[in-house]
Amino acid sequence: MTPSPPATQARIDTALFSASRIRERVDEIAAGIATDFGDDCRIVAILKGSFVFVADLIRQLSERNVHPVVDFISLSSYGAGTESCGTATVRGELSLSVKGRRVLLIDDILDTGVTLQTARQLLLDNGAADVRTCVLLDKPARRVVPIKADYVGFTIDDVFVVGYGLDHDNRYRHLPYLATLSLTAP
Ligand code: IMP
Ligand code: MG
Repeated sequence: MTPSPPATQARIDTALFSASRIRERVDEIAAGIATDFGDDCRIVAILKGSFVFVADLIRQLSERNVHPVVDFISLSSYGAGTESCGTATVRGELSLSVKGRRVLLIDDILDTGVTLQTARQLLLDNGAADVRTCVLLDKPARRVVPIKADYVGFTIDDVFVVGYGLDHDNRYRHLPYLATLSLTAP
């Protein structure tokens, strides 16, 4: 009988961005958004990966007297692997109307672009007047769909990253920093 292949093991490598570096950068992004949007800021964040980023961002916005209305949509394009499957499935509906609104769409990371593009189109189909996009991380090397984010935290190489809300197979979201993940045979 052929033995089954050894299970893949995930290993957290060195931190890519520390908690304090992330805090600094989130503050800078909030400053840009506050200047561009003023207090008319309707946020739609993509679950699950963006929840930590958005939680910090809205509190930094509040320090700048911007009090956004926040909604979430759930989209997923990954299974248990580290490769996007090429389509994004919308799993939840918008609970607040975006009709006629300027919307700031937020995700954790812009990879192939399929997720952000699908979400952006969903907002436009629901009558949003304008959709700006904001991502904590951008991996331009992997882009399949021609989309650019208006606000980007960090541009990174083609590495798989976990922590600060980003997961691998639903783990590591709790890490306060961002780190690369290696998948190796045991
Ligand atoms: P896209 O549709 O390929 O742009 O993928 C975007 C989604 O894939 C993001 O919302 C993330 O949830 C997930 N993703 C992409 N790259 C990574 C990564 O390096 N770590 C964790 N999740 C990732
Ligand atoms: Mg995601």
